[in-house]
Formats: sequence, C-alpha cells, structure tokens
Amino acid sequence: MEFLQAVEDVVKEFNNLEKRTVRIVGHLDADGISSTSILISALKRENIKFNVSIIKQIDQNILDELKKEDYPIIFFVDLGSGNLSMIEKALTGKHVFILDHHKPEDVKTNLIHLNPHLYEMDGDIELSGAGVVYLFARKLNEKNKDLSYLAVIGAIGDMQESKGFIGLNNEILKDAIQSRKIEIKDGLRMFGMQTRPLHKVLEYSTDPYVPGVTGNEKGAIRFLGEIGIELKENGKFKKLIHLNQDDTKKLITGIILRRLGSEDKPEDVLGPIYLLTNEEEENPTKDAREFATLLNACGRLNKPSLGIGTCLGNVNIKNKAINLLIDYKKEIINSLNWFYSHRNTSDIVERKGYIIINAEDNIRDTLIGTLASMISKSNLYANGTIILALAHTLEEDTKVSVRICGNSSVDTRNILNDILKVTGGIGGGHKGAAGCLILQEKEEEFIKTAEKVLGKVAIEEEIK
Ligand code: C5P
Ligand code: C5P
Ligand code: ZN
Repeated sequence: MEFLQAVEDVVKEFNNLEKRTVRIVGHLDADGISSTSILISALKRENIKFNVSIIKQIDQNILDELKKEDYPIIFFVDLGSGNLSMIEKALTGKHVFILDHHKPEDVKTNLIHLNPHLYEMDGDIELSGAGVVYLFARKLNEKNKDLSYLAVIGAIGDMQESKGFIGLNNEILKDAIQSRKIEIKDGLRMFGMQTRPLHKVLEYSTDPYVPGVTGNEKGAIRFLGEIGIELKENGKFKKLIHLNQDDTKKLITGIILRRLGSEDKPEDVLGPIYLLTNEEEENPTKDAREFATLLNACGRLNKPSLGIGTCLGNVNIKNKAINLLIDYKKEIINSLNWFYSHRNTSDIVERKGYIIINAEDNIRDTLIGTLASMISKSNLYANGTIILALAHTLEEDTKVSVRICGNSSVDTRNILNDILKVTGGIGGGHKGAAGCLILQEKEEEFIKTAEKVLGKVAIEEEIK
C-alpha cells in the first residue's frame, strides 16, 4: 500500500540522520497525548534523547521559539498539516517531520510530511494522529507493536470508532489484540461502565440517548426500579460491570424498549467494548474510552505531562491523573450549568439551524470544544443544527469551536473558512468538528459574519 511505503521512506530519512536530541511538539488532546507517548517510547527504545512540548495549536510565537532552539530534528505529531507553509517558512534548515491526520493545507512543501489524506484515505476516520505515529514507530522497530494500544486510544479519543474501526485503524487494532494489550467484549456501550454508579451512567448517557432517562437522575433511578434492578448491593451503588447476566439482559431489553421509535436502530446500544488487559477493573484506565477521556482531562486542564506519564505506565503519575479527572468533571458540569443558565441572555444566540455561544471568560478555552461537543450530542437541538462556541484564551485571543448536531453533510471547516475570510484567524479540523483562533477585537465581527454565513447554510439545508 502506498501509504505504508511512504511510512517506510520517512523512517529511512529519519534513520539517515545523525541521532541528536529530538524535539517533539504534540497536540493537547487525547490523540495528541497518545501520539506523543508513542513517539517518546519508540525513541527511548532506540536510546535517542528527546524534549517535549504539548500545545493547543501552532502559532507564530511557538514557531519563533522552535527556530531559536538548537534542535536540528523536530517532530510535529497530531498537528502541523494545516500549517505547512508557516512551518516551512519558520523552520528552514531544520529536519521537520510532520506526522498528522488533519486535512493538509493545499501547498507544495519540502517538509517530511506523513498524512493519510495525501493517499486518498479519510484521516477523519481511517487513521488518527497516534495511528500515523504508531505506523512510523512500528517500521522503526518491530518491537513497537506493543505500543499499538495507544494508537487505539488515540483513535477513540478523536471519535474515529463507531461500532468498530475501518481502514488502517482496524489493522492497528489487530496489532493491539495480537500483542495482548487490548481485548474486545461485546456488550452495552455506555460511558463510565468501570467507574460510575449505574444510575449515573444512564443519566449521562447521550450516546445512546435513552428517553426519560438521559439527563434525568430521578428518571434513571425510576427506570432501574421499573425493570427490576437494585440500585445498590451491600450498601454500595452498583456499577454496570457488576451486573450479572440476568440483570444485564433486563437492562438491555429495558433500554431497547425505551428507544423504540427513535431514529436509530434500538439495538445500536450494543457493540464492541475495548478493554486494556493490563489495567485493573473499575479504574478509569480499564476501558479505552475512559482512558481517552482521562488523557483529554490532563491536556485540557494544562497537565499534559500527567497524561503522558499515564501512557508510559508510571503508577504515581497515573494516580495523579485520576485525581485530576475529578476536577475535570467538576469544571465540565460548571460549564454546562453556565450554558443552561444563560440560554435566555445575549450570551447565547439560538436560531433555527444554528446557535452561537459567547462564553468570554466564563469557560476555559480548552474546554469550550468539549462543551460544544456535549451540546451537539444532547438532543437539545434538531439534527443538523450548527454550534459555534467562543471563549477567551489566557493570551487574550478568542478560541472558537464548531460542531454539528447529529448526522449532516455540512462540513464545519467550510463554514469556519467562510467566516475567517472576513475576520482573519487560523483554524482547521475535521468535517464534524473544527476550531480556530481569532483576535479578541474581531469577536463582534466574527459573530455578525457567522450569523450571515450560518443563516445561509440553514436556508440551503432546508431547501435540500
Ligand atoms: O485536533 P483533533 O483532531 O485531535 O481534535 C479532535 C477533537 O475533535 C476531539 O476532541 C473531538 O471532540 C472532536 N471531534 C468530533 N467529531 C469528529 C472528529 C473530532 O467531535 N468527527
Ligand atoms: O478545539 P476543538 O476541539 O474545537 O477543535 C476541533 C478541531 O479543530 C480539532 O481537530 C482541532 O485540531 C482543530 N483546530 C485547528 N486550529 C485551531 C483550533 C482547532 O485546526 N486553532
Ligand atoms: Zn487527532
């Protein structure tokens, strides 16, 4: 396959270089942290030294810093493809490797650039950043197959899994199973199976959405009563993993019945669950989906090193990361509460087809995308509704996240680009999730332009 040939060529180029300390720059989310951890482990194995930074996005300041530093080899992982010309201009004379899966900027460069989009693969679903880095690592040394599970976590973190994987992601999953790091069980796919009380899992379940239960704690408790499942066992709340076969059946049937008449197939609640064989039950690191969330929490709360330490298997650091998860959940609940309590104020514009949330300093810029994602999955708004959310950064810029509710053919990147043509700013992302950074003084103009662009999209979608 052409892409794997390209991987081989890139590994050769790397091997031809004199092995000095390697500079790694990785993206801040779960996929970026997985990518970085895979690269670190692979370099350690070759006794190559490294120096790591985790960043939110590439900007001129960061590139200026890298230029000043004395590292001849720089790896960008899970970012970079959207900023090729900027990078090339800033870092001429250095050996720059970009291992990414974001849609590349459409320019010719001399950078060493590995990206599935360049080989007619869909980098949004077939391969994650961690997947690209893993394939590089596997070619560097066959032993790195034992890192494949991190690439599975990265792909799950980037929402590339839906009832299984496709493309190279699926090959990587096979490596993870073969190396006995991941096992697959079929069952109810609900977030928090290992860690949360059952009624909480049901209350927070947006995917699958359970009518009368999702978003309703009392409803969730009532539902369990109706289907005859005890809330507690020996005075402690039961978790989903504690249910016996009989209760599991009752729960599945109960959920399917509740979901009859919903748009998707009721049995969609069942599917593969990815478990890490070496992790302990009831830990947030047991289920690959929860692991990805843990990494996200570390990145988003500005402690990416805790995420990296967790991936590298450091038990002390892992415990710190698990503590951080509690803060993360609190902050997410606070941001949801802010959203609900400001729906009728000028901070939130709700129109047919789109909503604009202007959180300013009320929500951390690194969490605004998570909030937008949660709202988009919440059934609050009709299918196809576009969500635009803005928040201030500590550097006094404005971060914007774009998401879309349900299934839609609309590409959020195009929407964002149309707005950015007017206001300026750098951005990128995927079809279903995009983001950008703009100057704070452009905020008002951005919102005005967005209303025009989004209003037009809403009308076009209605006509279709
Ligand atoms: O920069 P990167 O691609 O790694 O960011 C991925 C983020 O975008 C994830 O945190 C996820 O929340 C979001 N995403 C999404 N739907 C997709 C792809 C990504 O919500 N289809
Ligand atoms: O930050 P958020 O989760 O909203 O990002 C969604 C997608 O947009 C991610 O894939 C991210 O990498 C991309 N993005 C970008 N440039 C930015 C902000 C986000 O390419 N300045
Ligand atoms: Zn990614």
